[in-house]
Parts: sequence; structure tokens; C-alpha cells
Amino acid sequence: VKTVANTQVPSGMSSGVIDAAIETAYLKYRGLKDGKNADYIPVLAEVNPELFGISMVTLDGKVYGKGDTSSRFSIQSISKVFTMARVIEEQGPKALMEKIGVDATGLKFNSIAAIELRKGKEINPLVNPGAIAATSMIGGATYDEKWNNILQTMSDFAGRELAVNEPVYKSEAATNQRNQAIAMLLSAYERLYFDPAQSTDIYTRQCAVNVDARDLAIMAATLANGGTNPVTGKRVVAAETVSHTLAVMATAGLYDDSGIWLFNVGLPGKSGVGGGIIAVAPGKFGIAAFSPRLDEAGNSVRAQKSITEVVNLLKANQF
Ligand code: DON
Repeated sequence: VKTVANTQVPSGMSSGVIDAAIETAYLKYRGLKDGKNADYIPVLAEVNPELFGISMVTLDGKVYGKGDTSSRFSIQSISKVFTMARVIEEQGPKALMEKIGVDATGLKFNSIAAIELRKGKEINPLVNPGAIAATSMIGGATYDEKWNNILQTMSDFAGRELAVNEPVYKSEAATNQRNQAIAMLLSAYERLYFDPAQSTDIYTRQCAVNVDARDLAIMAATLANGGTNPVTGKRVVAAETVSHTLAVMATAGLYDDSGIWLFNVGLPGKSGVGGGIIAVAPGKFGIAAFSPRLDEAGNSVRAQKSITEVVNLLKANQF
């Protein structure tokens, strides 16, 4: 019986194979027009729906890509991963579990029923209520300290100084009454750990941070690399923090479609209504795709399909 060596990188994952997998996925889905831009945040409806890019970063820091990999868009819910990771890093996994909860709600990402059902307990950090709670827990005594902490964390994951897309921030800040209600309700259940209005505003700002597919792939690769950015070499979070982070991504990264995602891809992922999705192949690579048209659950259609294709071509499904 021939045994297969337990190597870090799957055999056959050379640069040529990776380039070919990305190219295949890109060409296969380039013409797909299913889904539609998010429009509950008014300016997101105006983003060019044809944009489509795929980027991948391996643990040696090599960056691959095809299509619109340097078009900037708002990170939206993908930011929740990095704020959650920072909270785990600062306060430990037990604090996250006890003060927020880590089970999937199984409901829509902005569900108020999810809060009400369990009186503010078991609200997952990758959907809005738990994410606003995570923002409220982030280290810092003031709005500015908390915000700088979040922006610095995301910048370290990306390996460059990220900035806010101001039109997206303003557009969402003017229309985020539902998130304000979520924060107030959590506060009523004593499950918010900072001022509700300021927590919602910091959360809105973190969702408006501008990234491109390449940034997201580096951020995902930092998770794949156990918390050290493979491009800059900087340790951003501890390996133990990454383990907990990936577990929550696996169970709740694509909202109420997380089970379908894991079934098809077998990797922890996270989506945002800006059209970005990341996936993490631990010990192998981080991958990201961007395309604005979303399905019913709020996940980019082309990003889901193209990542699935690349992961399957590279035989990187964890299971
Ligand atoms: O709070 C919101 O609704 C947005 N800032 C983020 C939501 C999001 O990305 C959900 N994605 N599918």
C-alpha cells in the first residue's frame, strides 16, 4: 500500500496548476449574471455588477489572481471575522462564548427574532447582532480607541493601511435603523458592552472599509498561516485564536447557507453584501473572490461558484 506523505501543500499545487485553476473558474463564471446587487444600503446598488475577480495567496506569500482583483469595494460582513478574532485574542475564547455565543442562529444575518428567541444569548459573532456585540467588546475605552483597534487589526491582516469608503459609510449610517434597533435590544438584555449608538456606528464603519480581492486573499491567507501574514511576516493573532475563528466561520460564515457552503467547498468561509467572499485552506492558502450580484441569502453568486471551482480543482476540500 502506497502511503501519501502529509505535506503542508497538496501535491501538484504548483504555480502553473494554481494559475490554471483560477483561469478555469474565471472563464467559467465570467458571463454569469444571476443574482443582484445589495440595495438595502443605497450606494451598493450603484456598484458595477459586472466586476469579477479571484485572488489567491499561498503560504509562501505568492499572490495569484485573475480579473478585477484591484477594484475596491466595501468589506461588509467579512470584517466580522477580524473583529471577532481580535476579541478572542484580547479576551480569550471563553469570553466570546459566554458574552456573545458561537452557535449558528440559522436565521437571516439581520434577524431580530434570533435575539428575541434566546433573550440575547447565543447570538453568533458573524451575523449582525453578535457582530455588533463583538464590536462593543473590542479593546479601547472610547469610540476612537475601539475604532483604531479594529482598523489596525484589519490592516495588519491585509498588510497595508486600509481606509473607509466614505460614501458607503454615509449611505449605511443613514439607513441602518435596523442595526440600531438590534443594538438597543441587546443592550436591554445586557448583552452589549459599550454604548449602543456608538457600537452600531463603529460596526457600520468597519463594514465600510475598502478592500480589493487581493487584500481579502492576503487576509484569508493570514488565517491559513496560523495568524502570521505570509506577505509581511507579521504575527497578527495567535494560532489558537485562528482555530476558534475558523470554527465559527465554518458554522456561520455564509449565514443561513453556511451548511450548503461547507457541503460543497469544505472550507471555512465568510461573505459580505459588498460581493466579497473569503475561504481559508489551513496550512495551504487563502482565497477571495469578488462580484457584486448576490443570491437570496446575501452571498455573491459568482464569488461562491468560482471559489468552489478553484477549491475543487485543487482538491483542497478539508473533508
Ligand atoms: O450590517 C449590515 O447589514 C451590513 N453592514 C453588513 C451585512 C452583510 O455583509 C451581510 N452579508 N451578506
